[in-house]
Amino acid sequence: MTYQPGEILLDKYRIEALIGRGAFAEVYRATIIKQSKPCALKVLHKDAPGLGNKLFEDFVQRFKLEVELGARIDHPNVVQVFGVEHHGDNLILVMEYASGGSLAERIKEHRESRKYFEIEDALKIAVDVATGLGELHSRDAVHRDLKPSNILFDDMGCAMIADFGLVQVRGLSMRSQISQPIAHPGTPGYMSPEQENIGNYLRPSSDVYTLGLVLFEMLTGRDYNYIEPGTKLSDVIDNVPSGLDKLITKLLAEKSENRPWNGKTAASMLERELSRIRNEREKRVKRELKEAEKRDRKKEKAKEHERLKAKRQAKRAYIWSRIKETLSQISRRTRIITGGLIIGGIVIASLLLSVVHQDIVPKSRTLTTE
Ligand SMILES: Nc1ncnc2c1ncn2[C@@H]1O[C@H](COP(=O)(O)OP(=O)(O)OP(=O)(O)O)[C@@H](O)[C@H]1O
Ligand SMILES: [Mg+2]
Repeated sequence: MTYQPGEILLDKYRIEALIGRGAFAEVYRATIIKQSKPCALKVLHKDAPGLGNKLFEDFVQRFKLEVELGARIDHPNVVQVFGVEHHGDNLILVMEYASGGSLAERIKEHRESRKYFEIEDALKIAVDVATGLGELHSRDAVHRDLKPSNILFDDMGCAMIADFGLVQVRGLSMRSQISQPIAHPGTPGYMSPEQENIGNYLRPSSDVYTLGLVLFEMLTGRDYNYIEPGTKLSDVIDNVPSGLDKLITKLLAEKSENRPWNGKTAASMLERELSRIRNEREKRVKRELKEAEKRDRKKEKAKEHERLKAKRQAKRAYIWSRIKETLSQISRRTRIITGGLIIGGIVIASLLLSVVHQDIVPKSRTLTTE
């Protein structure tokens, strides 16, 4: 039976939406009515397909273990567990609602767009997860079921570990209580070499190996289990900082004693690598910025030079045009003066001629009459 949005359970919880489905359970976003607080409800139906009575009883034990351990843990990198409820035949785990979705969803989105995580983003997630694991390990517990769908994000993008129903924990261990005949429950593809062997009491470094698998998957989009043993991260993708290459090899060491011992050690190694990579990037950005500024200054200088050159040319052109104008004005004046002189000359010449003419003609007339 699936719950519908708006449905009220046990007078305490209002169902808001179905947000996910696992192998046997459904997960709902809900509200704790009294506190108006969001929560997630993981609902296990007794009659779920493939879930027999024995397996259902195992889950009852797992949920109880999760509540018992969860009640002791209040850590930003661990999903908080509030309690377990029975509703009819259904078993309900009440926990903190992780509004940022799961790492499984992010990996799927990246895979679909054929883009992988930026190194810094993947390392930041790995640091958060390792820190959460460190908290579990400090309580002598081993998660045993770390995988992308059990890594959730809060509203600030901080990664948290969920689902520690399969945890191996001293005093509370379910191994003796659950009926599954396997040595270490977990998820195929996300198990350490020693986890796959029956009978080992797992060390915290088993979770560290699984974290290595998840980090490898974030960075490459590949499943490390399909990759030839001994392959380094830098053999699969380009531009891997050498420190990160070595660290991944260490996290994925076959022998558990060659790995960081627990989440806390892994977190500090990952954190160191992350801050080294961040510093390198910041230095590179600063260097690039300086170079860009230098280039800009050079361009500005060249521009200023061009501007001055153009100004000089304009000035020269102006002076030249003034000279030409003056010259043209001078020649016009010269032309006027010359014209004036010619006209003046003609006038004077014709006056002289008329005077000469007057002097000669009357004399000759006098001569003929005499
Ligand atoms: N506290 C939570 N807040 C928000 N979403 C959650 C929460 N817990 C689980 N989910 C979502 O519900 C989905 C189903 O979770 P569930 O734990 O039932 O199965 P799973 O982890 O995907 O697989 P498996 O059944 O193998 O453990 C998760 O992938 C996750 O996206
Ligand atoms: Mg889960």
